[in-house]
Amino acid sequence: MTGDAEWERYADGGVLLDGFHALKHALRFGARVPVAVARDRKAALALSSELAPDLTGTLDGLLREVPAEVLRRLVPRPHPTGVAALALRGTSSVAADRDEPLVVLDNPRNLGNVGAVVRLAAGAGAGGVLTTGDADPWHPAAVRASAGLHFATTVEHRQVPELPGGQLFAFDPEGDDLRSLDLPAGAMLAFGSERHGLSDDVRARADHLVALPMRPQVSSYNLATSVAMALYHWMARAY
Ligand SMILES: C[S@@+](CC[C@H](N)C(=O)[O-])C[C@H]1O[C@@H](n2cnc3c(N)ncnc32)[C@H](O)[C@@H]1O
Repeated sequence: MTGDAEWERYADGGVLLDGFHALKHALRFGARVPVAVARDRKAALALSSELAPDLTGTLDGLLREVPAEVLRRLVPRPHPTGVAALALRGTSSVAADRDEPLVVLDNPRNLGNVGAVVRLAAGAGAGGVLTTGDADPWHPAAVRASAGLHFATTVEHRQVPELPGGQLFAFDPEGDDLRSLDLPAGAMLAFGSERHGLSDDVRARADHLVALPMRPQVSSYNLATSVAMALYHWMARAY
C-alpha cells in the first residue's frame, strides 16, 4: 500500500512518469494523465513556468502536493524534480503503410537503451519502435530513459513472425556499408541485442545486412548509438 488512494487506483497498468520532464513530454504528446504529484507543488509550477509555460495551466489543475515520505513510497528513488505521475498506456500500433522507418529492437536487454531509442525515434520522427523478446518496452526504467517520449511515437512489442511490412534492413558489422544505401519508404531497421547481436530469425528474414562505418579492431557500437547513426542517415537524406 502506498498510502495514496488516488495513485493506487491507477498504479496497476499505469505508466510511471518519473520526474518533471517525463510528465511534460507525456502531456505535450497527448497522454492521458489521471494522477500527478509533487513534493513541492510551488517549485514544480515554477519549473513549469521556466521550462514548459505551455503546460503551466494544465499542471496547476493536475499536480497535488504530497509529503516527501509518501512520494518515496510511490516511487522508490524519486526524481530530483520531486514530480511523479501515472499515465494510461498508449495503445496505438505501428502503421503498416507508413513512409518513415520503423526501428526494430531484436530482444534488447537493457531498458536504458530501449528508452534512449524511443527518445531517438520520437526526435527523428521515425515510424515507431517495435521490440521483440521478453523485455517490456513500457517498463518504468525505459520510460524514464525516454523522458516520457513514449507518447510521442508508437512503441509496441511483438514476436518476430509478426513484424509489419517493409523491407528489412538488419544492422550488423559484417553487412554492406550504410553510406552506399538509400533507405526506401517504410523500411524496417533491425538492431540486435547488446550481448548476442541479431537473432537467427531476424537475420534469416532480412532483405539487407547493413554495417555502420567503424574502425578495424573495434567490435561494435552501443545499441542506442547504432540506432542514432542509422536514423541520422535517414534524416540527412530525407529532409
Ligand atoms: C552492442 S551491439 C551487439 C554486439 C554483439 N556482441 C554482437 O555480437 O553483435 C548491438 C547491436 O548494435 C548494432 N551495431 C553495433 N555496431 C554496429 C556496426 N558497426 N554496424 C552495424 N550494426 C552495428 C547491431 O545491430 C548489433 O546487434
